[in-house]
Amino acid sequence: MKDSDLKINKIEDLIKKDLYKKYNVFKSKSFKFGGWSVEKDFAKFLGTLIKKFKFENIVELGSGVSTLILAKELKNKKVKIFSIDHFQGYQNKVCEELERCNFNYINFRTIKIRITYLLGKFFFFYNINKFLKREIGKIDLLIIDGPPYYYRSREAALYAFDDILSENAIIILDDANRMNQERVYIKNWQKIYGENIFVKIYEKQFKKGLAVVQFRKSKKHGTFSSIDKLKNYFFTISYIFKYLGSLFKIKFLRKI
Ligand SMILES: C[S@@+](CC[C@H](N)C(=O)[O-])C[C@H]1O[C@@H](n2cnc3c(N)ncnc32)[C@H](O)[C@@H]1O
Repeated sequence: MKDSDLKINKIEDLIKKDLYKKYNVFKSKSFKFGGWSVEKDFAKFLGTLIKKFKFENIVELGSGVSTLILAKELKNKKVKIFSIDHFQGYQNKVCEELERCNFNYINFRTIKIRITYLLGKFFFFYNINKFLKREIGKIDLLIIDGPPYYYRSREAALYAFDDILSENAIIILDDANRMNQERVYIKNWQKIYGENIFVKIYEKQFKKGLAVVQFRKSKKHGTFSSIDKLKNYFFTISYIFKYLGSLFKIKFLRKI
C-alpha cells in the first residue's frame, strides 16, 4: 500500500486543513461537552470522520455524546454499531435520549469491568467474550474513550479486539495528551505491533489530544519486558488494595 493510500493520511487532511471544525454538532438535551463527555472538538472530528469515510462496523468503548453523533450521522445507513460501557445508569441516559429522537438502532452492551490477562499483563477492562466478538464481526472503526481514566486500561482495547480488527481498521483514541496514560499505551502498542500500526498524535488541535491509529494486521511483533510486567503487577495489586480500602471506608462510615 502506498503512503498516499493510507486512510490515516486522508484523515490527517481533515484535521490539518481544519475541515472538521465546520461540522455542526448535534445538540444534546442531557449532555454537555467536557467532564465525563468528550470535548466539542472531538465531537466535530468524529462527526466529520464518519460522514467522509464509509465505515461498516463501528465499536465504541465509552457511551455518551459520541453515541448520539454516531446515531445521528448513520441512522439511515447500513452500519453496524456497538456501544460498550460498564455503567448502566450512564448508558441509560444515552439510550433515553436516542429514543426521544427515534435513533434507537445502536447495539448497547453494558459490560462489567474485570481483571483481564492479556499479553502477560493485567488490565481492568470490559469482560469481552468470544460470543460478543462473533456478534460484532470485523471492526473497521474502533473508538476508544473508555473505560474511564481511573482504570488506566484503555491500552487493553487493542489487545482485546486485535483479532477482529479488519485490515486497515482505524482506531481513535481520545485524551491522547495524558502523558502517563494514553501516551504510554501508544508506546506499548508500537512495541507490540511494530510496523503493523501507523500512529498520528494531534496534541495542539484537540483540547485533550487525539490519536489516530491505522492498524494493518493483527500480527504481533514484540512482547513486554519483565520490568514492564513487574510494574504492571505492582500497579494491579496496589489498585486492588486501593479499591478494597475505599469499600472498607464506605462500610465503616455507614456504621458510625
Ligand atoms: C470517558 S467518557 C465516554 C464519553 C463518551 N464517549 C462521550 O462521547 O461522551 C464517560 C465514561 O465515564 C463514565 N462515567 C460517567 N459518569 C460517571 C461517574 N459519575 N462516575 C464514574 N464514571 C462515570 C461512563 O461510564 C463512561 O464510560
